[in-house]
Amino acid sequence: SKDWNGIDQVVLRNRQGALARVSLHGGQVTSWRNEHGEELLFTSSKAIFKPPKAMQGGIPLCFPQFGNCGSLEQHGFARNKIWIVDDAPPPLPQNESDGRSFIDLLLKPSEEDLKCWPHSFEFRLRVVLATDGDLMLISRVRNVDGKPFSFSFAYHTYLSVSDISEVRVEGLETLDYLDNLCRRERFTEQGDAITFESEVDRVYLSSPNVIAVLDHERKRTYVIRKEGLPDVVVWNPWEKKSKSMVDFGDEEYKQMLCVDGAAIEKQITLKPGEEWTGRLQLSVEPSSFCSEH
Ligand code: BG6
Repeated sequence: SKDWNGIDQVVLRNRQGALARVSLHGGQVTSWRNEHGEELLFTSSKAIFKPPKAMQGGIPLCFPQFGNCGSLEQHGFARNKIWIVDDAPPPLPQNESDGRSFIDLLLKPSEEDLKCWPHSFEFRLRVVLATDGDLMLISRVRNVDGKPFSFSFAYHTYLSVSDISEVRVEGLETLDYLDNLCRRERFTEQGDAITFESEVDRVYLSSPNVIAVLDHERKRTYVIRKEGLPDVVVWNPWEKKSKSMVDFGDEEYKQMLCVDGAAIEKQITLKPGEEWTGRLQLSVEPSSFCSEH
């Protein structure tokens, strides 16, 4: 089918009625719904669905740069490119092919990309909607250049929450983080779990591979499992920054939280012929255990 822009998008469905949409614009997941039709990812009502900017919501891919600390545009160019469907994808493991719905996309640099980032790569993205409704994203970046290159990466995941002041994140306590609000200064997380009462823009370092986001009001817990992604970005723009963004509603910060599996502090370096894999698995669990934590 087509997305809002006439750009092709792929709709994945499982037998229970869960659904995921992936746009060829950016290889961006733009929707993920459970079997009851409830949307699990946030999308701004003011989102601009027009290249060359990624729309605010879903899961944009930040590559080969995260943020604006580098010579490239904010979060790199991959999220602003039109990807193609990969006709020679890596095989799906046999035990994983049962009933799963998936799509393989591919991005190779254009002449224009090579001018601002002179490294030949192949970026393969597989998006899988599992039989139980879990969403999996597998990114494989291969160096097809004659020299090594380094990059940063993030699955910029906009989770939909009922009320940001009722949300907490578990799994990041006691970790060191870089605070983007204070020139990337380094701090150590002191709290038991992370809760929100003002703007947050942090990169947590050397994090565990499982992070939980508890939405108390909706009695829902997002479980984020990741591999190859040591860092976790936590972002909420809060009131003032929301008002300054044209493609984001003034009050929408209350209904979203970005928690990204990422590789930022230490860049990934690939020698010619080498490949890197970064996996993200998102699940939703009813959180009756919330209150006991
Ligand atoms: C976050 C950055 O991850 O992404 C923020 O840390 C940034 O600084 C935000 O504002 C959104 O970025 P963009 O380019 O999608 O508006």
